[in-house]
Amino acid sequence: MSTNRDPILIDIPMPIITPRLMMRNVLPGDGAAMQEIKVESWNELCCWMPWTKLGVGTVDDAEKVIRENHAKYILREDMMVAAFTHDRRLIAMCGLHRFDWEFRSFEIGYYVRKSEHHKGYATELANALTRFAFGALNARRVIICAATENGASRRVIEKLGFGLESLTKADALLPDGSVTGHANYVRYDINDLPDLNVTWG
Ligand SMILES: CC(C)(COP(=O)(O)OP(=O)(O)OC[C@H]1O[C@@H](n2cnc3c(N)ncnc32)[C@H](O)[C@@H]1OP(=O)(O)O)[C@@H](O)C(=O)NCCC(=O)NCCS
Repeated sequence: MSTNRDPILIDIPMPIITPRLMMRNVLPGDGAAMQEIKVESWNELCCWMPWTKLGVGTVDDAEKVIRENHAKYILREDMMVAAFTHDRRLIAMCGLHRFDWEFRSFEIGYYVRKSEHHKGYATELANALTRFAFGALNARRVIICAATENGASRRVIEKLGFGLESLTKADALLPDGSVTGHANYVRYDINDLPDLNVTWG
């Protein structure tokens, strides 16, 4: 992949398939399903996700977010991804964010609907996104950041063998207004990433 090309010309192969998941860029019409998982998981999301300060919102608000992110995907500015089980149930929102196409750095983000927690889905989707970033997008660097106190997310990242590159003491507000630091984890390759059968395109 040439780094000199306008990013809009970069082909991104979709969908991403894992043993339990079909993951793809968000599409107009996904708003209602995303709103359903937001409502179901709202208390957990409010602990960690800065955007929850906007409130839980409506299906139309969710559809607006989906369409805005669909546009950003086409422009190659962001990649919000919906993760479905193979029986087409939406179980997580995730994606690659904060692209630097020139250096080829990407940041993974995710949340899993509450009724599907503790089943290994976050670990599976983050493993898949890591393989996809290095294998399909030619990444040099993949980052995942978690609030210092977010034990579940940090466990996911550590299970995937990301290296803890820095710990900040205080650099953001949690949605409840309290101060948090972040654990910033990085991978520069997929060496020793737990095995997972992932295909794309
Ligand atoms: C973080 C989150 C995505 C994890 O999803 P999940 O599908 O339940 O994750 P997995 O099942 O793959 O793995 C979770 C691991 O964390 C562990 N865990 C769960 N709660 C924990 C806690 N409070 N402290 C430490 N570890 C915890 C689980 O035991 C499991 O580890 P194990 O497999 O060794 O037993 C989910 O809790 C979530 O959506 N949280 C709200 C949004 C969020 O925090 N997103 C991440 C922002 S960085």
